[in-house]
Amino acid sequence: MSMKVFALIVLVLVPFGDALSRDDFPPHFLFGASTSAYQVEGAANEDGRKPSIWDTFAHAGNANKYPGNADTGCDQYHKYKEDVQLMTKMGLDAYRFSISWPRLIPGGKGPINPKGLQYYNNLINELISQGIQPHVTLVHFDLPQALEDEYEGWVSRRIVKDFTTYADVCFREFGDRVKYWTTVNEGNVFADGGYNSGFLPPQRCSPSSTRSLLFNCSRGNSSTEPYLATHHMLLAHASATNLYRKKYQDRQHGFIGFNLLTFGYFPLTNTSEDISAAKRAQDFYIGWFLNPFIFGEYPDTMKKNVGSRLPIFSKSESNMVKGSIDFLGINYYSSFYVKDNPDSLQIKDRDYTVDMGVKLQSIFGNGTSPHEFAVLPWALHGLLVSLRNTYGNIPIYIHENGQQTDWNSSLEDWSRVKCLHDYIESLPDILRNGINVRGYFVWSFLDVFELLGGYESSFGLHYIDMSDPTLRRQPKLSAVWYSNFLNGKTIDP
Ligand code: NOJ
Repeated sequence: MSMKVFALIVLVLVPFGDALSRDDFPPHFLFGASTSAYQVEGAANEDGRKPSIWDTFAHAGNANKYPGNADTGCDQYHKYKEDVQLMTKMGLDAYRFSISWPRLIPGGKGPINPKGLQYYNNLINELISQGIQPHVTLVHFDLPQALEDEYEGWVSRRIVKDFTTYADVCFREFGDRVKYWTTVNEGNVFADGGYNSGFLPPQRCSPSSTRSLLFNCSRGNSSTEPYLATHHMLLAHASATNLYRKKYQDRQHGFIGFNLLTFGYFPLTNTSEDISAAKRAQDFYIGWFLNPFIFGEYPDTMKKNVGSRLPIFSKSESNMVKGSIDFLGINYYSSFYVKDNPDSLQIKDRDYTVDMGVKLQSIFGNGTSPHEFAVLPWALHGLLVSLRNTYGNIPIYIHENGQQTDWNSSLEDWSRVKCLHDYIESLPDILRNGINVRGYFVWSFLDVFELLGGYESSFGLHYIDMSDPTLRRQPKLSAVWYSNFLNGKTIDP
């Protein structure tokens, strides 16, 4: 029996509860899927592209944890037409991808690479011709290595100017067709992973910290650099938005957002200490960015715990950052219970993790793979309510959601189907609750070189056997399920 026939039969029999249908959503609500340049494009050494810090990190052994690199990846650089065809068949409204800065401007600044320009024009035109909206991220962890080498990238204020110039090129070249721009993906993960814990490029953290022993950092300073990198991301984002609004908005009518990894933070007990700790965890992880975007300054809890290591916005910077997002992109996979941990604040050389003064307890899944996340629609709803109560009803795109499984596990990825089903099913209630969610994207369209798993774990709707030179895309059950849903089939009894 073919995979499709099998899937259709089982999907009718799945006891998921009430029927879920595309008609339960407002017509303008978007459904899409996501990827990122380094993870999906491949062609790392072709047509003038130069390395990003992610290439360097992967080639150095991914902090000795996740072997492999994405030099070839899924080869979307050559297979974009095939991929857009798959998206069309699936019925996706939108595709979220990122532009590789070092493909478009290999030196990080200076000349534009005509082949890079051509590639993104081709991809965008292909999407538009199929009625699929491009949602474009400008930096998905992959800063040009040249800028890291020249001035240590995001820890230097010089990044603000270079990022704004890069954004200007993108707005100018693609903005007639791209209306949704996200400046930075998972700014908070990047600040922590890149500068505090060292599990991400550029792999900086205090060499003396315990985390450095885990991830082998040889340079950096976890007590200051995460805060500096974030400060510069905020200023770079705001500067790009400012430029867009002055130079392009009245012709292009687009929207600029920022993306964060989000967790629901729930107090472990009902004590006032744990309730404050949960708020502090949200402030440190989400408020770190959202407070400046909405209120023009960092959260009070951060000012108190971080003290003079937290950079300060000048009046004009604060005015520029405040109000500089048209929407927030959230990536949501899991949530935490939070316990107060005042003892950590006694540590002398405090770093970003310690500054929070909390203990986090993951809410784990009970799936068959150790990688799997618990599927907790109530926690997503709780998070969204908390964001609305704290920051007002900002337009939100769920930029990433999905389930992680082992790379070569079955094409019948039931745990992913259940995850997508349960979260999508929870959205109509969230919308009825007045929360301003505008769209939902599955991470990821294909099995891609994973951030924290290389080629060992994957999130894809389509499987790729990396040992097959054709890199054939094979739909998993989740792709069939999502496609049925998008094509208006009522998919469960
Ligand atoms: C976070 C990142 O945006 C993406 O690069 C990563 O692969 C997925 N979410 C899964 O971890």
